[in-house]
Amino acid sequence: SPLEQQIKDLQSFQVIAHRGASGHAPESTMAAYELAHEWGVDYLELDAQITSDGEVVVFHDDTIGRTSDGEGEINDYTLEELKALDTGTWFNEQNPDSADTAFEGTQILTLDELLEHFGHDARYYIETKSPQLNPGLEEALVALLEEHDLIESGRVLVQSFEQDSLLKVHELNENIPLIQLVWYYPNEEENGRLVEWTDVTPGPEEITDEDFQAVADYAVGLGTNFIYEGEEVIDGDFIRQANDNGLPVHVYTINEADEMERLMEMGVNGLFTNYPDRLLELIE
Ligand code: G3P
Ligand code: CA
Repeated sequence: SPLEQQIKDLQSFQVIAHRGASGHAPESTMAAYELAHEWGVDYLELDAQITSDGEVVVFHDDTIGRTSDGEGEINDYTLEELKALDTGTWFNEQNPDSADTAFEGTQILTLDELLEHFGHDARYYIETKSPQLNPGLEEALVALLEEHDLIESGRVLVQSFEQDSLLKVHELNENIPLIQLVWYYPNEEENGRLVEWTDVTPGPEEITDEDFQAVADYAVGLGTNFIYEGEEVIDGDFIRQANDNGLPVHVYTINEADEMERLMEMGVNGLFTNYPDRLLELIE
């Protein structure tokens, strides 16, 4: 089945366009996704949040100030209010080399619009962002995925740092493949020992097969950071052990070619990047 094929494809290397080709166009906008899609990435990555009137929008931050001309918390606004914002001009101001007048006045994107636009011609790697700030997000998301027939057709992965959010998605539809996100950092209080940030797994140095199996119980893969304040927090052994327990490892967010190469040598199963063009060039 297409869903089985999708899971099988996770065995090979996945190019994941982080918030679209967000190094070249304003993140989480149609322009950024169009570009990534044109280049032929494996997945369009996005963060899903919910408006005050229950619409699912594609947006990363909890607040709207960094990537729009508004301010305040995204969940306090209705979709209509958010649609009045300009989510493109900030990019031109911050990235004069990639600036394009076509980005000016770009409207916030709903998940429905994105799914309608690319349909079954893309795969989507959707994060349930800040679940405690987005009540009802999982229900609304699963409804959209079912409506667009993206689950059995093998078109979607749902990712989250919050295990509870993934389990909720699983309860709503047990066929949705899930990715557990973790963020590792050295715990200075414990002499540089690596500890986990999400309470989902112990740090890479202590993680056991049982810990990986506990994730493999509900998820088809793991998404992790690579570097924290200049220090590498995972290595090839971590990736091998995850793989041996049936979990591909995707690393976020890798933008420099030398780091991409290093992680590929370590056997990583996919990379989230704002520059999918650089990654595609490397794997050609
Ligand atoms: O979803 C993987 C990666 O995007 C997690 O970090 O903050 O960019 O959503 P963030
Ligand atoms: Ca994300």
